[in-house]
Amino acid sequence: MKSEETIKTSTQTILVTGGAGFIGTNFIRHTLNKHPDWRIVNLDAVTYAGNPANLADLAEKIPERYHFVHGDIRDGQLVEQLFAEEQFDGVIHFAAESHVDRSIHGPIAFAETNVLGTCRLLSACNKAWEQQGRPDFRFLHVSTDEVYGSLGSDGFFVETTPYDPSSPYSASKAGSDHMVRAWYRTYGLPTIITNCSNNYGPYQFPEKLLPLMIINILESKALPVYGDGKNVRDWLYVIDHCEALLTAFIKGIPGETYNIGGGAERQNIEVIHTLCDLLDERLKLNAKNSSRSLIQFVKDRPGHDRRYAIDAGKIHKELGWKPRFDFDTALAETVDWYLDHKDWINYVRSGEYQKWVDTNYKER
Ligand code: NAD
Ligand code: DAU
Repeated sequence: MKSEETIKTSTQTILVTGGAGFIGTNFIRHTLNKHPDWRIVNLDAVTYAGNPANLADLAEKIPERYHFVHGDIRDGQLVEQLFAEEQFDGVIHFAAESHVDRSIHGPIAFAETNVLGTCRLLSACNKAWEQQGRPDFRFLHVSTDEVYGSLGSDGFFVETTPYDPSSPYSASKAGSDHMVRAWYRTYGLPTIITNCSNNYGPYQFPEKLLPLMIINILESKALPVYGDGKNVRDWLYVIDHCEALLTAFIKGIPGETYNIGGGAERQNIEVIHTLCDLLDERLKLNAKNSSRSLIQFVKDRPGHDRRYAIDAGKIHKELGWKPRFDFDTALAETVDWYLDHKDWINYVRSGEYQKWVDTNYKER
């Protein structure tokens, strides 16, 4: 266990990459609220999945604590300039191409952003860290449980589970994890890696399972269930993930990896049934016109991992984190958030998103 002296206790100025996406938005809102003396610079390329408007109120109300930089992590010159201008106490690296289905249709962007972009960021960061000589500096790399591949019907992913990624997305995240480890072992950059299970909550782009299903129910569209619907994911409320990341950033040991999960394993079809029931109640649909009638089993995702399940014992025992939110309660609150934010849904679905849905589902 790390000594108290090396635990971060002071005011922090941190660089967040990919902060306009789903988890990054929640992380920035949660952190600035929880740590009133922290400052965050958000570097985001604003791809189809990034929406800086999620944080526009912060940019207006607290410009001294929240600053948005529109830029790409692959732009080495820009990233180096940012490190030269700011004395960052650490980096929390979310920026990535994050959707498995997109990676099947266009893998190259995943290698470019997730592997090469991470290398550019590490390189600029390492240069600044060597010049500034900051012993308490941390680079936290936000990664996924998908790097471990697929589980059978029992067992859990632990930090030493061998990497066995299935999709171009998970292979590119595995590549980025290896690069982060290489920068720790070769140059001594104080890096920490977290590998987390499926998140749900507000601000998730509606190509991922939960928001896609909610919106399709609202619009009486088909609910496309891949394969037999029995693939299992381990669901974690996004604020629990944000808390785990803060814990790892503040108390984690450089060079270490921490698995993060919700202990809420569900088959996809179970989750979809629960969503249908929640929406039937809210939309006052009865058994005859229940949204369950919209469920359609479609062709399976190629290379579809059967089951993910996280053993989060290490971060619990060593750093004291465990999830606080119960799946059924937080899922109901998530449904209500989307029902209350139809303007947000319409905004993020305009343009690019529509094209993506056309391409993806036409080919199934
Ligand atoms: P997201 O797709 O919602 O957001 C990604 C953000 O990164 C967007 O704002 C996008 O504009 C930005 N971005 C993409 N390419 C960029 C580039 N080249 N330069 C700068 N910015 C760029 O993703 P998310 O679901 O919020 O996931 C964030 C991170 O967490 C990812 O690294 C992902 O692998 C990891 N993760 C996600 C989950 C999950 O369930 N969503 C679980 C575990 C780990
Ligand atoms: O495990 C962590 C990962 O979780 C993150 O690293 C990824 O960034 C994140 O996107 C998520 O990956 P998944 O592939 O598990 O999430 P997705 O929402 O795309 O799919 C969840 C499950 O639902 C998966 O088994 C595929 C299935 N699915 C998905 C969609 C979009 C369907 O059956 N129908 C659908 O339309």
